[in-house]
Amino acid sequence: MSSEPIIRVRDVAYPRLQVPDLDLMESYLLDFGMKRAERRPGVLYMRGVGPAPYVHVIHEGPAAFLGFAYQAAARDDLERLAAEEGFSPVTPLNAPGGGWRTATRDATGLEIEVVHGIAPRASTEDRSPRPLNMGEAFQRLGAPQRVAAGPSRIKRFGHLALNVREPAAALAWHHARFGLIASDRINLAPGMPVALFTRCDRGDEPADHHTILFASDMASGGVPGLNHLSWEVCDIDDVLLGRDHMASKGRSHEWGVGRHLLGSQVFDYWRDPWGHIHEHWTDGDQFDASIPPGDHPIDMAAVSQWGPNMPSTFGRTIPPQTA
Ligand SMILES: [Fe+2]
Repeated sequence: MSSEPIIRVRDVAYPRLQVPDLDLMESYLLDFGMKRAERRPGVLYMRGVGPAPYVHVIHEGPAAFLGFAYQAAARDDLERLAAEEGFSPVTPLNAPGGGWRTATRDATGLEIEVVHGIAPRASTEDRSPRPLNMGEAFQRLGAPQRVAAGPSRIKRFGHLALNVREPAAALAWHHARFGLIASDRINLAPGMPVALFTRCDRGDEPADHHTILFASDMASGGVPGLNHLSWEVCDIDDVLLGRDHMASKGRSHEWGVGRHLLGSQVFDYWRDPWGHIHEHWTDGDQFDASIPPGDHPIDMAAVSQWGPNMPSTFGRTIPPQTA
């Protein structure tokens, strides 16, 4: 990753899915822990409890993953991209909170937006982690822990995983434009990664261990596209509480609860009615740009530190078996 990227993004902002029934999707996402931000003809905006006015955009139409948005650090970064071949001019973002966007398409036709200036929500719900009594660090002396049943509190859109033909080529493409850098590589052979965990380069400021996981499409029958979408929740109770809530609503469970090895998150995965995988996670690694990439053998691909093994269906968009 020696070449200088056009810009260095700060994060991702939201993904765009398309499904044939927005009511059904809204009901699923409410159970998952989101709240309706706004509904317009043919498009649904869902938010979490944090300042972002929306963390998921869903369009009406045949089921498909349409793309996602990166957050730029400055408006000038959008202009810098728009001057490059393949990017659209900078235009206003016609969505809650406004802002500005430019967009391009990757080799598989996914639309990749880069946004800036989306106004935060005026007021947010409580997103503080529940105080814990751990070891000798007692945070709630004299106060019982009481956790009300209900859906998870969704803090933010955290990352996504894409099935791609060549993970190294995909990272090179995203590095050159958006500045992503490698955190960990799972290698089929030296220099042949089948999974590349990549993060935003914020210099001295820590960033999530992965913002995009590029996974080889070998596991998805050579079909590129969405592997999974992932939202950070406020604390560990929100992972387990959310699991109970989703189960009580008869939602389709995919994998979890466990703790990942690479990235270390406590995770739980669910499927929407069309089979897209949505993840809850908390307690992920934070790396600044100085931490070099790690290399790992392929037999670590499915490893969790605890929790169930990865199911063979994971990472592919397939409709749930249950009605
Ligand atoms: Fe994930």
